[in-house]
Amino acid sequence: RFDDHAQVWLFGYGSLIYKADFPYLERRPARIRDWSRRFWQGSHDHRGTPDAPGRVVTLIPDPGAVCAGMAYLITPEVFDHLDHREKNGYLRHATTIEFSDGGSAEGLVYIAAGTNAAFLGPASEAEIASHIANAVGPSGLNRDYLTHLADALRALGEHDAHVFAIEERLREMDRGSRSARR
Ligand code: BEZ
Repeated sequence: RFDDHAQVWLFGYGSLIYKADFPYLERRPARIRDWSRRFWQGSHDHRGTPDAPGRVVTLIPDPGAVCAGMAYLITPEVFDHLDHREKNGYLRHATTIEFSDGGSAEGLVYIAAGTNAAFLGPASEAEIASHIANAVGPSGLNRDYLTHLADALRALGEHDAHVFAIEERLREMDRGSRSARR
């Protein structure tokens, strides 16, 4: 190869926060501006199936908003692995990544836009919670994806009102179904 030192920052805001199954050179808590995380993308291949898609996060344009996540410094060939893992509607976008401990860098982020075939779009927090409670795919239960993401955000000291509200709705549903069985 001509450039053995090519390196790219990738911003992860979903499963990439808690599951980095690829080699990276550095990993730094980070944020990007003007996007909000939403459980608006259908998952046909990980947390659901084509007939019963799960709900996973994508980013929605939201001027003034800040989305917290984890940035990874990777080599370009790692994108070949990720492009495969993150198919199902996600495309790379260029963005400015702000590191939580200071400084910034230009990098890339995978976003599933409203035009992709698997996009589900908005629903109430209760609807999203019951959707997630019932979905499962090759990567496991959709509810485990939600829990891992919420736990990872808490570990970063970050609050995400949308994610935490859906997690709370799901807990309420679980409490309700437990007491109904008694
Ligand atoms: C992410 O965590 O940034 C991510 C994970 C899967 C698909 C797209 C993005």
